[in-house]
Amino acid sequence: MSFQLVLFGGTGDLAWRKILPALFQAYRHQTLPKNGRIIGVARDKMSDAEFRALIGERLQTIDGEKRPQSAEFNEFAQQLFYQPCDLNRSSDYAALKQKLNEHTADICVMYLATAPHLFTSICEHLGACGLNTKNTRIVLEKPLGQNLQTNREINAAVKGHFSEWQIFRIDHYLGKPSVQNLFALRFGNSLFEPLWRRDTVSSIQITLAEQIGISTRGPFYEQTGALRDMIQNHALQLLCAIAMEPPINAHADAIRDEKLKVLRSLKPWSTQTLRRDIVRGQYSAGLVEGVPVKGYTEEAGVDSRSKTETFVALKTEVNNWRWAGVPFYLRTGKRMAEQDARIVINFRPTPHPIFQTPNGSANQLVIHLQPKDGMSLHLFAQGQAPSQVGQLTPTHSKSLGGPLGPLLSPVHLDLDFDKRFGTDRVGAYERLLLDAIAGRLNLFVRSDEQEAAWSWVEPILQDWLTGDAPLYTYPSGTWGPSQSKVMIASAGHQWDEDLEI
Ligand code: BG6
Repeated sequence: MSFQLVLFGGTGDLAWRKILPALFQAYRHQTLPKNGRIIGVARDKMSDAEFRALIGERLQTIDGEKRPQSAEFNEFAQQLFYQPCDLNRSSDYAALKQKLNEHTADICVMYLATAPHLFTSICEHLGACGLNTKNTRIVLEKPLGQNLQTNREINAAVKGHFSEWQIFRIDHYLGKPSVQNLFALRFGNSLFEPLWRRDTVSSIQITLAEQIGISTRGPFYEQTGALRDMIQNHALQLLCAIAMEPPINAHADAIRDEKLKVLRSLKPWSTQTLRRDIVRGQYSAGLVEGVPVKGYTEEAGVDSRSKTETFVALKTEVNNWRWAGVPFYLRTGKRMAEQDARIVINFRPTPHPIFQTPNGSANQLVIHLQPKDGMSLHLFAQGQAPSQVGQLTPTHSKSLGGPLGPLLSPVHLDLDFDKRFGTDRVGAYERLLLDAIAGRLNLFVRSDEQEAAWSWVEPILQDWLTGDAPLYTYPSGTWGPSQSKVMIASAGHQWDEDLEI
């Protein structure tokens, strides 16, 4: 299949950090159709050769094995082209159309890697100059809008020119191998299904912790904040993958219907829960891995009095038969103690203890998203070391009113997908780009899902805008404001890093 991919925002951060390296990886893996053209679009005047040189130079900053060797990059670069375009000028879209018409291709993918406020105008121009044929697909980056209303406006504008089956709303977390494995774990195995419910699960934690700050993205982040950047999309999509019912088949709409039901079952916010169950924070100066780093308000492009949150922790519930009453804790932050994205499923303790177990711990299934990609199952076992065998005589526990067996030790069954499948696997953007070219919508977000997610987030945004919700600071290199521990403790739980198992 031949394709043309038009990359709006072609010289921007996202283009050269994520999208072009992913296309290059697909080229390396020989999965990128050979006769395709990738056309970078941005305001600057530049020739194809200059664009290739610029991208070649930028890709040299990629670490490790993904950095291209010049010979292979030069070969890949033959598929790169450039078209200058002022996104508000109709004649520039006509010139883009002419460039596209120089070549015949089965499919044209329009990738909008620009600020979301430009999406409406780009779609209108594409429609006006006839670049919205049935062979066109449009890929939209997140966050799609600033709130429910702007999300609806953008979706309405895009749908004015493209049908839903042509619209690919990206949430790159859905493309991560670890998230594919979460679907495989749940729907490709029967083992966990009977346990995947309120009777056996006591709580669920989703943590997306990053050590990086906002880097050069100050102006973007000031408009966005952690709630819109990570919770409204990535964290909620992970929650859906955990909480959804098995879809009737693997078709895009069957999967998206189930995710939508979860989003619509999220516990609505009340005045009380908005204060009690959400903690927002902002990083101050501190040490990350021993290296001093600036506070958020000292970062370039950030207002020194900024109230933008770089950390959010919250508790919610999924109000349906499977999950009623099980707390789902969601947490994300920049400049945290560790780079760690994980989902922890905490199982209930045994109904009647006959052994002693370490304080506060029970069985856990941990799904590691990054930096490690794997899973571990935390169980209890008897070590049988001479010192432990010495304790085998039943002890009397007054509090439990009966004899308890020996103290069990926590043990982990670890699955490391990098070891099992190798590290040269298809990355999130690579996977999603290939899916968009091939027209597979399974891992993209439908507009009603997105709207449901925005509707749930909206009361928080409103409260932060108009209310007096506190914004706590936390030193860089920590796990966020101490209030986040208080919040989870008041519901009778602890964050995973505080459990001694
Ligand atoms: C992006 C956010 O969507 O995801 C960034 O805009 C964040 O702020 C990034 O750093 C995290 O993605 P990953 O794949 O590095 O976990």
